[in-house]
Amino acid sequence: MTISEIYPEFKKKYHKALVTGGAGFIGSHLCEELVTRGFLVVSIDNYSAGKYENLKHLKKYKNFREINCDITDVGKLSAYFKGVDIVFHNAASKKSVCLKDPRRDLEVNGAGTFNLLELAKKYKIKKFIQASTGSVYGEAIYFPQDEKHPTSPVSYYGVSKLAGERYVQVFHHLYGLDTTILRYFHVYGSRQESNEFGGVVAIFIRNMLEGKRPIIFGTGRQERSFTYVKDIVKANLLVATKKESTGEIYNCASGIKVTINELLKIILEVFERKDLKPVYKDWVLGDIKKFEISNSKIKKLGMNFERDFSKRLKSIIDEKKGSPKK
Ligand SMILES: NC(=O)c1ccc[n+]([C@@H]2O[C@H](COP(=O)([O-])OP(=O)(O)OC[C@H]3O[C@@H](n4cnc5c(N)ncnc54)[C@H](O)[C@@H]3O)[C@@H](O)[C@H]2O)c1
Repeated sequence: MTISEIYPEFKKKYHKALVTGGAGFIGSHLCEELVTRGFLVVSIDNYSAGKYENLKHLKKYKNFREINCDITDVGKLSAYFKGVDIVFHNAASKKSVCLKDPRRDLEVNGAGTFNLLELAKKYKIKKFIQASTGSVYGEAIYFPQDEKHPTSPVSYYGVSKLAGERYVQVFHHLYGLDTTILRYFHVYGSRQESNEFGGVVAIFIRNMLEGKRPIIFGTGRQERSFTYVKDIVKANLLVATKKESTGEIYNCASGIKVTINELLKIILEVFERKDLKPVYKDWVLGDIKKFEISNSKIKKLGMNFERDFSKRLKSIIDEKKGSPKK
């Protein structure tokens, strides 16, 4: 399905969206999509990782509000729920931050999610969509990993995101809150953070622009299921319109399998910088070596993913080359 095919249903059900983490990578794409289609959108972000410039282009829209608020501050949060009928909960403490401050990670991803759920219940929100992660699975015990695969996270991040998921499920079971959990995998696209906390695609592109040798942790043979950010947006809108998604969990992965070495090879070719050979370093603690994710459940809802990874990657690089260095 295309986004345009999803909208008629979406429009019938929803009017005003609250996007947490709206100034972040994925949240800003969600805001952009909804604001430019005329929906009322409130972005909630504490700007710990998000950026004002990610939303700068949306400031001119009267149907958009950008709020600086921490999701752990429940008192302040409630003021922004009035009239909201759908919540896209994307605010989270990052995977790489979690190693440095696991307690804060738990507060944001666990308690922060709980705060939003309480308010969603109080304000009778029609739909609550939780951004979760493949990290909740931990090391695979079978492939491909479907949604029934046991969850045994091996990182603080995975544990705190799983806590968030479980709270979402409890609010669904106890109060009938209409919830859907989307487990994202290796999302890439424009506005992705390219600093040490960013995604590998954005980091490698930045290395090229700066003429630096990229660092690969481990052998580089670890596989990733890179998923285009606009497909993530589409999946959010799709599940919002499907009754059968209520109370469900979906893997939201493209199904593409690319190793880190292969990713770098494409990027080196596009930049014509084969001289920038990677520096191999030790594995990162908790890194998962192989991903083979089943996306058939969400595909049955009508979801289709961008499959031509190198073409999409090239277009993102072209866009980045055209924009000033950050
Ligand atoms: N990018 C990926 O590949 C990926 C993969 C799996 C899951 N996810 C999930 O998707 C969601 C969005 O991720 P992203 O890649 O856009 O990350 P991001 O860091 O760009 O966005 C997260 C946003 O949340 C904000 N935030 C953090 N703590 C907050 C708090 N206490 N209160 C309010 N705002 C807060 C940050 O400032 C940031 O803008 C997250 O829930 C993440 O766990 C992302």
